[in-house]
Amino acid sequence: MSAIHRRAMFNDADCLCDIRRRSILELAPPKMSVAEAQAWAAKLTRAGMEQKLRELEVWVAELDGFVAGWGAIRGDRLEGLYTDPEFAGRGVGAGLLEMFERLMCERGIRAVRAEASSNAMAFYLRRGYRANGPQSPNGAWPIAKGLR
Ligand SMILES: CC(C)(COP(=O)(O)OP(=O)(O)OC[C@H]1O[C@@H](n2cnc3c(N)ncnc32)[C@H](O)[C@@H]1OP(=O)(O)O)[C@@H](O)C(=O)NCCC(=O)NCCS
Repeated sequence: MSAIHRRAMFNDADCLCDIRRRSILELAPPKMSVAEAQAWAAKLTRAGMEQKLRELEVWVAELDGFVAGWGAIRGDRLEGLYTDPEFAGRGVGAGLLEMFERLMCERGIRAVRAEASSNAMAFYLRRGYRANGPQSPNGAWPIAKGLR
């Protein structure tokens, strides 16, 4: 079953925070150390999530009526992509990514840029993204993909 995509609402904040935290803690290791995953997961507070909802274009993927994942964009930048571990490996992340690329393409954006965490790098490389600079001090990799 393919996911339904909708814009996130302010009252999704708790659910989206929870999905982000669990996706990082459960899906990033072992490609990332547990300590690194814990530090990354702790970076976003509820207030930070509310700020994302105000400042970014946040979209939710629903599967079987459940929020299964979410992602965010701003202009030509992918600002986050998270799948609820219970729905991992079912195309939720890839589906959101394709939707974002389609949206950007329709808006005349020629390339999408992102910062990939080391655990997700292979996921992006398999989807046509390429490294776009040296690893940043926080361990993320700048990546980009041309759109047409
Ligand atoms: C990276 C992340 C978003 C991927 O989410 P996901 O929903 O599990 O991803 P998908 O299901 O789309 O793809 C994962 C694999 O499942 C496979 N898959 C895709 N559609 C599928 C389907 N319908 N049924 C079964 N498997 C499927 C894909 O082939 C893919 O494998 P591949 O990467 O070897 O090609 C998720 O692992 C995550 O939230 N990680 C923690 C947070 C994170 O790292 N976010 C990225 C920050 S830059």
